[in-house]
Amino acid sequence: TLRLGVLASGSGSNFEAIARAIDCGQLNAEIRVLIYNNPQAKAADRAKKWGIPSVLLDHREFKRREELDRGIVATLKEYGAEWTIMAGWMRIVTPVLIDAFPDRILNIHPSLLPSFPGIRAIEQALNAGVKVAGCTVHRVSLEVDCGPILAQAVVPVLEDDTPETLHARIQIQEHEIFPRAIALAALQSQNP
Ligand code: GAR
Repeated sequence: TLRLGVLASGSGSNFEAIARAIDCGQLNAEIRVLIYNNPQAKAADRAKKWGIPSVLLDHREFKRREELDRGIVATLKEYGAEWTIMAGWMRIVTPVLIDAFPDRILNIHPSLLPSFPGIRAIEQALNAGVKVAGCTVHRVSLEVDCGPILAQAVVPVLEDDTPETLHARIQIQEHEIFPRAIALAALQSQNP
């Protein structure tokens, strides 16, 4: 059983997709804690609904990124998490977090990496005029949105797409591939 700590900044639909995959036996794991950085994050309501403990670490209360990451590491350890799952986590990570969970931090990004890293990935894709878009789950390394790729899924870009309509199409795929990528990462770590 994988012990997961999930980090989320926003709506938490990926957090919930992982919780659901665990609930229906698709993923042999448990979410020990949800950490969120933004008091408004809907992810916290979802955690409550699932009976999963949640901890607010508001980045505005930490002077440096390293200090936020130290708080995250301490919380993850306190709750017994062995894997860190970034499910819509909008903070740049530092070596403090990466060194605490070597090769055990996963991130989901709403583009077909290595295209369109960084913020506003979906707007970047629309502006570039690409005809397919998608999402990527990868292991986290220091460079933003780099690191070995575990899973990707592709969706079409339609003529009249807005960032919202394209994001909605991508999110359906995110919810499919994230739980599978977590299982795959664990398998790879067992049999390197
Ligand atoms: C997801 O689409 C995820 O790919 C993206 O944030 C969204 C969170 O949705 N992540 C990033 O942009 C990371 N840079 P959710 O809160 O509903 O899971």
